[in-house]
Amino acid sequence: MRELKSEILGILKAGLENVTSPGAETDRILLHVLSQSRPELDSFGKLYLSDPVPTPAERELAISLARSRARGIPLQHLFGYQTFMDRDYQVNGSTLIPRPETEILVAACEDWIRQRNGSTGPRFAELGLGSGVISCELLVRFSGATGVATEASSEAIRLAESNLTRWCGPRWMDRLRIVPVNPDQGFTPFEPHGLFELLVSNPPYVSRDDEIDAGVLLHEPGSALFPWNNDPGFFYADFILRAKNLMAPGGAAFFEVPHERADQLEAEFQKSGAKQVSLIPDLTGRPRVLRAEF
Ligand SMILES: C[S@@+](CC[C@H](N)C(=O)[O-])C[C@H]1O[C@@H](n2cnc3c(N)ncnc32)[C@H](O)[C@@H]1O
Repeated sequence: MRELKSEILGILKAGLENVTSPGAETDRILLHVLSQSRPELDSFGKLYLSDPVPTPAERELAISLARSRARGIPLQHLFGYQTFMDRDYQVNGSTLIPRPETEILVAACEDWIRQRNGSTGPRFAELGLGSGVISCELLVRFSGATGVATEASSEAIRLAESNLTRWCGPRWMDRLRIVPVNPDQGFTPFEPHGLFELLVSNPPYVSRDDEIDAGVLLHEPGSALFPWNNDPGFFYADFILRAKNLMAPGGAAFFEVPHERADQLEAEFQKSGAKQVSLIPDLTGRPRVLRAEF
């Protein structure tokens, strides 16, 4: 194992322009490969304490994954999943790989729901369903939750449907309605569906002028990163215009926001008719989630 570990580390270090944490990623590759054939090894601790001798097939797979990773392919695409709030979600190139920052967004919604009405769920809206992680977590955590979600990519919708079936069961469509939309649509597709107690979105909010990691640009779709008109404020401004047609009295909207523009967005959201607008920081202390209470 130690020999294979140092071989993998060497491959990843040779791809340093693509791999920022070769040590940690070596562990993830080895654990992934070994846990496929040895289900008893489900943690790093067990992996290193038992120090198993890798079979030739395991060695070959680990090396091939490391080579692909060194060429810049994200580990999540190589493994086919990303863990989000303790659940493994299928991922592919059709939408964004769920990020840890988005767990802060879901946790903020969860705190608000629990403070407001205990464990029963609200009627929610999500713009930009992607792999389905946000809507799926709300449905799993709150048995009374029902929602409407929009998404502009039909491939992303297929991916979300698969994740919803896995975690919410085959009858998830009794609780979530997915509305396919065009990329230039904002929040109008929600208007025929009545008022929402909770609205949540991690919309495309990157500007083409922002500095973006080359690997992200190459492997994650531009349609999940950049708004259709390259205006990073498009979805926020559209919500502010339409909030009164969307939000139930006493409801709240939660948006993931770029930390560089968070203060400006907080000021702009005051125009949405919200009673209170606040920012919630991520684990690095930077403002990441905007909450608007109606
Ligand atoms: C930043 S990703 C978020 C995906 C997922 N909700 C998450 O947090 O990981 C944004 C998603 O919005 C979708 N999208 C782009 N334009 C849209 C639009 N006008 N309406 C709804 N969804 C849109 C993209 O295809 C992409 O899946």
